Amino acid sequence: MRKEILELEQSVLNLDLKDNRRTDFNEKVVNYLNNFIDNLKDKNGFESDFSSSELIFEHPFNANGYPIEEILNLFENAVNSNGIQPASGAHIGYIPGGGIPTAAYGDFIAAMTNKYSGIYFANPGAINIENHILNWFAKLFGFNLKRYGGNLTTGGSIANLISIVAARDKHNIKGADYEKTVIYGSAQMHHCIHKAIRISGLSECIYREIPLEKNFHLNIKSLEKQLIEDTKNGLTPFLIICSAGTTDTGVVDDLDTIGDLANQHKCWFHVDAAYGGFFHLLEEHKGTFKGIEKADSLVIDPHKGMFLPYGSGAVLVKDRADLLKTNYYLANYMKDAYSGHEHLSPADLSPELSRNFRGLRIWLPLLFHGTQVFKDALKEKLLLTQYIYNEFEKMEFIEVGPRPELTVFTFRFICKNKDPSSLNQQILEQMHKDGRIFISSTKIENEVWLRVAILSFRTHLKEIELLIEMVEKHFKNQFKSSIA
Ligand SMILES: Cc1ncc(COP(=O)(O)O)c(C=O)c1O
Repeated sequence: MRKEILELEQSVLNLDLKDNRRTDFNEKVVNYLNNFIDNLKDKNGFESDFSSSELIFEHPFNANGYPIEEILNLFENAVNSNGIQPASGAHIGYIPGGGIPTAAYGDFIAAMTNKYSGIYFANPGAINIENHILNWFAKLFGFNLKRYGGNLTTGGSIANLISIVAARDKHNIKGADYEKTVIYGSAQMHHCIHKAIRISGLSECIYREIPLEKNFHLNIKSLEKQLIEDTKNGLTPFLIICSAGTTDTGVVDDLDTIGDLANQHKCWFHVDAAYGGFFHLLEEHKGTFKGIEKADSLVIDPHKGMFLPYGSGAVLVKDRADLLKTNYYLANYMKDAYSGHEHLSPADLSPELSRNFRGLRIWLPLLFHGTQVFKDALKEKLLLTQYIYNEFEKMEFIEVGPRPELTVFTFRFICKNKDPSSLNQQILEQMHKDGRIFISSTKIENEVWLRVAILSFRTHLKEIELLIEMVEKHFKNQFKSSIA
């Protein structure tokens, strides 16, 4: 048996890439990535031919693996050559971010050292890093540092889910209460919150979609009227959801007034700032987010406004007891991990136990770069948005949506003889085929609008001027018989 064990050991040692193999592996991967970053500026924002992605299935897992050169080659051909290029500044659709390299190195160190960040006992340093980041967020948004609870999540969807479940448990909503319990949102609320309501079992509650004002803000008068009417009718207002940066239209609801209404009607006040939150770093935007500190739960997404690679969201809850109520559990086999200290761990404040050490991808860039460059990048995106909006506004064949409050706005080509939705849908399809710049679209009051979202840290004047030129010259000409 010893002989067999030692033979197996020799095989397993391969997993550690011994004897120069690690250096060789590192060099090849790092070279590939350096070339990737250096060539990004010449890459399209979108490749509409998806056929190369099928190459993945031509490489079955075999007993002894493939050389790293072949694997990188496959990645280049099958993954890096189709769909959206989210690392590129030419990605101006959906909500971009970019993926700053220092965050990727943070992931690399986290995975190589494999520090356990679920529980304080396993690695107090890792938990302190996460808490240090969360404290920085909490301070930024005016939460009470002694009272709040927070968690670094994989993204905004999970952060919203954690918030909605905490609200449910704080208000002790049980099945028998559903038909009298009311949730208030708007048509501009991100769809992940509808999913969170469904997953948390609250979809049998009454959901009120509060009308919007012309500029897509939640209409406060309608909300107030509905709250009063529901109370009068014996229903229980429970949860008010609003947005600090709507995905479709980029607007920030009147958080201050809605926060007061929530307080008056004893509702949980949830703010989804996944897209807009980090603009609060800018002095000149403090007024936009007035009242954000009134939130019972707040969602922000560092993989958007801090330009991190996908995989980073965060939730802050005003009272950590509300997160503990749902998530804290002491399993028998974990008892030693909890004796002798009183520190809270991510596992106590979220549904996860084992998780990647995701604090490092935020901590390393913040420590290394400092905060100023993040503010500069956010300010640059705001100015780029104003610049392109002004240019579009001057074009007589373009109709623009409301003036952007942050870095998202809508526009459409004015149509001569076709219905505007089908013309703009056709133009969008051609833009995707062209691929130099990627933008997306949305439906507003059932009509198709094109949508610009400037948030990648790699989007600069060059990409914006290219988009202006594409609209003004290329697509205007291509569709000149249909454009007014
Ligand atoms: C306002 C808002 N909330 C939530 C989400 C969902 O976040 P994630 O994609 O990180 O899960 C998004 C995504 O774009 C968003 O814009």
